[in-house]
Amino acid sequence: MKTQQLIDTARGLVSDDKGLLAMDESNPTCDKRFAKLGIPQTEEARRAYRELIVTTAGLGECISGAILYDETIRQKKKDGTPFVKALADLGIIPGIKVDTGAKAMAGHPNEKITEGLDGLRERLADYFQMGARFAKWRAVITIGEGLPSWSCIEANAHALARYAALCQEAGLVPIVEAETLMEGGHSLQRCREITEEALRMVFHQLHIQKVLVEGMLLKPNMVLPGLDCARQETVEEVAEATVKCLLRTVPAAVPGIAFLSGGQSPELASARLNAMNTVFKTKLPLALTFSFSRAIQQPVLEIWKGMEANVAASQKALLHRARCNRAARKGEYDASMEGNQGRKP
Ligand code: 13P
Repeated sequence: MKTQQLIDTARGLVSDDKGLLAMDESNPTCDKRFAKLGIPQTEEARRAYRELIVTTAGLGECISGAILYDETIRQKKKDGTPFVKALADLGIIPGIKVDTGAKAMAGHPNEKITEGLDGLRERLADYFQMGARFAKWRAVITIGEGLPSWSCIEANAHALARYAALCQEAGLVPIVEAETLMEGGHSLQRCREITEEALRMVFHQLHIQKVLVEGMLLKPNMVLPGLDCARQETVEEVAEATVKCLLRTVPAAVPGIAFLSGGQSPELASARLNAMNTVFKTKLPLALTFSFSRAIQQPVLEIWKGMEANVAASQKALLHRARCNRAARKGEYDASMEGNQGRKP
């Protein structure tokens, strides 16, 4: 195992107050988002959209790594330049989503288990050859009546650990994504309890599979009340609950935590990350950063709408969200940064 290379890549991904851009939506997910905005659901439209992202000048000042999807890592700009090269030109490290999706879990109604371990060693070797230096695998935990089950938490953590071990063998930094979903009427306290159980199990399984925690990143949810919960805590309360939960569960040797946005508005996601860094940044051994998809890309898609004429404005919106989130990493984000581009958090 190329230990030092893994450690250097993991540290590089969270250095200089930068964060990650998740642009690894599967084709069905990307098409669903396109359909809502009346954008054609074709390979060419998906390519054109991703070209817009990988050619945004200055993006590398805020984004350290971009997570691609199998289709995207093979795509090229109109002029024939591979996307991987375009990203490298911006100073952005290419990564790749390698799970094959969260599927219904046998014997566990309304729960999911993430698949993709079969043939993973060979796929990782191919992706490394294509230029990827890190990978991502997402497990999802649903909170509900009698949910999650212990078996769902354990099986997903086990799969994440086996994925992470294979990544490190291949020289790729694993991003270990364990997402406790926001959907539902549960309280923030319940989300905190479940997130804590899930992360404890994840690090237990990572230990059993001999994963080097210095050479990985964790991608968790923030600790939030369910979307339908009547009580919605303040930005500061969310920040405190999230950091306290992570302090209990994540080894200090992990270089960084890069949050998913999970359906939060772009402004709220930035404000909550900012609050965590404002209060805790100097007290934590590990970096708290972002690995957002929707909270960075949604405003971009809404401007682009599939039209060439909107590319420049879309790139401006992308750069704006990337800058807001880099500021949040430094505890320097303020709602006034949004100008008239966004809603207040
Ligand atoms: P969101 O930020 O939209 O939750 O996406 C993050 C991600 O990578 C999901 O796997």
